[in-house]
Amino acid sequence: MDPATLAQLAGGLAHELKNPLSTLSLQLALLREQWQDDPGAKARRAVRILDGLLQQVESLNEILGDFLRFARTDRIELEPASLNQVVQQVAAFAGPEAAACNIGIRSYLDLDLPLLPLDVGRVRQAVLNLLINARQALEHKGGHVSLITRRDGNEAVMEVVDDGPGMALETLQRAFEPYFSTKKSGSGLGLPTVRRILEAHGGRVEVESAPGHGTRVRLRFPIGGAGGHVKMAGDDAQRDPPPGGGGR
Ligand SMILES: Nc1ncnc2c1ncn2[C@@H]1O[C@H](COP(=O)(O)OP(=O)(O)OP(=O)(O)O)[C@@H](O)[C@H]1O
Ligand SMILES: [Mg+2]
Repeated sequence: MDPATLAQLAGGLAHELKNPLSTLSLQLALLREQWQDDPGAKARRAVRILDGLLQQVESLNEILGDFLRFARTDRIELEPASLNQVVQQVAAFAGPEAAACNIGIRSYLDLDLPLLPLDVGRVRQAVLNLLINARQALEHKGGHVSLITRRDGNEAVMEVVDDGPGMALETLQRAFEPYFSTKKSGSGLGLPTVRRILEAHGGRVEVESAPGHGTRVRLRFPIGGAGGHVKMAGDDAQRDPPPGGGGR
């Protein structure tokens, strides 16, 4: 089975699981409500068990949510939009929390960038995923994150640069593997999602990172579409060919 069909099947399965899970969660919550006013020891035990079950359902929901955000990128809707504006929105959203952790976010935007065919929601998610990674890398000792946009020939480039600890070679080599994570509660779908979003835009992702030298993640978007390869809304019958190079 080719990877695209497999991804579609897995996405469908994950989606199908969502409804029974929400029914389960609702029924468990109702049951809990019925038991919680009962003063008996048996009722207390039931409530404890139900709390445990509710927690498990919640964590299943999170796993599914992460997976669906990763898998859903084939339904992309492109409209002319400003990459700078997306970056500014994400910076404004993440700024206060980062500042509280001693992390400074600076933007260096090329104001001459043309509008690009973007799915703004998905690109926002990609930039946010990168910013979250940078923030997590800087969590312990603070530092700086630079958000850069510039033009490079026929491409618009967006970089997220942090002066955190950087990645060991083995981490760098596996960073785009779905479910690979070095974090205690990481899903390992952040960078694979970013890559899928960029590929759906006819672009690509590159990473430069070394221990002690921070991390630079570069998103490359084609200016004026991907030579006809970018899938537009409603164009569900076709899949994008993988972009040449497919760099990290
Ligand atoms: N800016 C960075 N600095 C250092 N290491 C990084 C950075 N970005 C990613 N990594 C490494 O790459 C791994 C994979 O990143 P990815 O975003 O895919 O998953 P995650 O951050 O672990 O989990 P999730 O994003 O799903 O919460 C991370 O666990 C981390 O080891
Ligand atoms: Mg991440």
